[in-house]
Amino acid sequence: MKTDLLQMVESGGCSAKISPQLLEEFLRYLPLPHDPNVLVDINSHDDAGVYRVNDDLALVFTTDFFPPVCSDPFEFGQIAAANSISDVYAMGGTPVIALNIMMFPASKLPIEAYSEILKGGSDIAEQAGVRIIGGHTIDDFPPKYGLAVVGYIHPDKIITNAGARPGDLLILTKPLGTGVILAGQRMKMASEDDVDQAKKLMKILNGPGAEVMKKYNIKGATDITGYGLAGHALKMAKASNLSLELNLAKVPLIGSTYRLVEEGCIPGASFRNLDFVENDSHLRPDLNYSLKMIGMDAQTSGGLLMCVKPEISNQVISDLHHTGLTQSAVIGRVTEKQDKFLYLE
Ligand code: CO
Ligand code: CO
Ligand code: CO
Repeated sequence: MKTDLLQMVESGGCSAKISPQLLEEFLRYLPLPHDPNVLVDINSHDDAGVYRVNDDLALVFTTDFFPPVCSDPFEFGQIAAANSISDVYAMGGTPVIALNIMMFPASKLPIEAYSEILKGGSDIAEQAGVRIIGGHTIDDFPPKYGLAVVGYIHPDKIITNAGARPGDLLILTKPLGTGVILAGQRMKMASEDDVDQAKKLMKILNGPGAEVMKKYNIKGATDITGYGLAGHALKMAKASNLSLELNLAKVPLIGSTYRLVEEGCIPGASFRNLDFVENDSHLRPDLNYSLKMIGMDAQTSGGLLMCVKPEISNQVISDLHHTGLTQSAVIGRVTEKQDKFLYLE
């Protein structure tokens, strides 16, 4: 019988992250290193940590792992690996080596499923030019997989949440909706075509998008994952001490995401993300409810959200379209700090 990993989990992918509030609460108790070579740590809520080796070289270091987002073990491995490597790209780094992180119920899954997950991970790692040089496995249920990834970066060229500037336009490189569509699949509401589109997007590396950021010397960016567009935008606004305005009607969506949300397909993680952003956000009173909830949708292996000077935004969009990120679009802008960090309209 073919292994169906989705049978084993309630929430897969980045939806399985703990709530952002809880994370902030317990990170307060984490002693932080005081070392001038630590260039980025958890203080700025960035995607990865950065450590300076010398004046020309720093290491970007990150890990992500999660339960299955799809039925097929090979595809799950591909998506998990693309998602793990993404945090290096989001900071402008070049990923080079990785370790497999695997939790696997030895008694509940055939050994082939396990090797398929690892093969999927290797497939994407190879595409990214990343060498997997080891790993660690624990007997655990439900299964979880991801990578710890190390990348190179020049210490002066780090792209962070704190790099937004007033007047910048916000460009998103992948459409939203992976959380909605995966929930829709579970509830038998999403079409096969929706699921295929979502899976295809989750496997796309953020490497080409990161190359465009480097070409145009972009300083502020993040990738959109478990906290949704609004949650990650809020982290960026706070780190930069500015306000971000998101025009949710302009956000590109995967397949029938909007219809699914209208029909009530809203994953639990969206409400958790709404709780996280609400106090710091101004929601336009007549904001469409479905669009609002799409802004909260937890993405797995989502796109980059980058801060771009208006005078180069057309070139950036056209470059992104040429790399195959054909739905890249301007979805908002950065302003001086206003009353609230986030403005949703
Ligand atoms: Co990230
Ligand atoms: Co991450
Ligand atoms: Co070990």
